[in-house]
Amino acid sequence: MAKWTTDDLPDLTGRTVVVTGAGRGLGLITARELARAGARVVLGVRDVGKARAAVAGLPGTFDVRPLDVADLASVRAFAGSWSGPLDVLVNNAGVMDVPAARTADGLDRQTTTNHTGPFLLTNLLLGHVTDRVVHVTSQLHRRGELDLGDLDWRTRAYHGMAAYQASKLAVVLFSLELQRRLDAAGSPVRSVLASPGIARTALAAHSRSNVVNRFRFLTNSPEQGALSVLYAATADVPGNAYVGPAGPGGLRGGPAVRRAGKAGLDAALARRLWDATAGLVEAAAR
Ligand SMILES: NC(=O)c1ccc[n+]([C@@H]2O[C@H](COP(=O)([O-])OP(=O)(O)OC[C@H]3O[C@@H](n4cnc5c(N)ncnc54)[C@H](OP(=O)(O)O)[C@@H]3O)[C@@H](O)[C@H]2O)c1
Repeated sequence: MAKWTTDDLPDLTGRTVVVTGAGRGLGLITARELARAGARVVLGVRDVGKARAAVAGLPGTFDVRPLDVADLASVRAFAGSWSGPLDVLVNNAGVMDVPAARTADGLDRQTTTNHTGPFLLTNLLLGHVTDRVVHVTSQLHRRGELDLGDLDWRTRAYHGMAAYQASKLAVVLFSLELQRRLDAAGSPVRSVLASPGIARTALAAHSRSNVVNRFRFLTNSPEQGALSVLYAATADVPGNAYVGPAGPGGLRGGPAVRRAGKAGLDAALARRLWDATAGLVEAAAR
């Protein structure tokens, strides 16, 4: 499995995939490769013009639509306009270690981009999903600490990296609880996690605390990083599988099914996080 490449992608003709944040970085590579394998790829992006330019001339079928996952109205509009089956939803859009900021809904920008927005998007689209939801998380979820009483960084002093790590732990726990609910409902839909390791994208360009900037020898090319996402989106993996690079520390190498960190396997915490996140979404709507 560690030698898996994009040449191993199955024929995806007739399948529809949504990739969020697909105008650049890992999302663009994921969209490009899924389309090359035959899927109709819907790119949910903030900058439609830029994304159209990025996929112009690439082989395959692309449909670029506006989506700001940190804006709950935008999430609702994207999901509300969906019709027909959606085989795979790839929640890829994300930010890392960004300064404190509030969204139009008054929510923490980083937590909403990485977790709360994708939580709402997934729940709104779930009735259309036929195969799976892929959540792009990070090995840094292992360092995540969740404060369910202050998930949205209102009462604590904000810390960019701590918020990133917590949001990526939230993604892992969201997948766990989503899979539990799907199983309980007898649904064949899978919830799958993908960790790109460390890939040299723009994600950490502004972040002084990130290893991408300090230890290039530990890093993947963006093409390698996207392999975990592509494998999670297409391979026959079990529900709530954690797909990440096979190499030491899950940082580099070909995709393999690995194990999430201990906190990411805490089913009771996952249920409480679901309720806390739903509470944030409800409060924002009031
Ligand atoms: N690179 C790594 O080493 C690494 C490691 C672990 C996990 N990840 C995860 O992989 C995913 C992709 O990251 P990347 O490395 O490809 O970073 P990137 O090159 O910075 O790309 C991030 C993408 O997310 C989009 N995005 C950000 N905020 C958004 C919003 N509110 N609504 C819609 N799209 C939004 C960006 O769109 P704009 O062009 O509009 O900004 C961009 O397309 C992220 O979830 C990240 O946490 C990456």
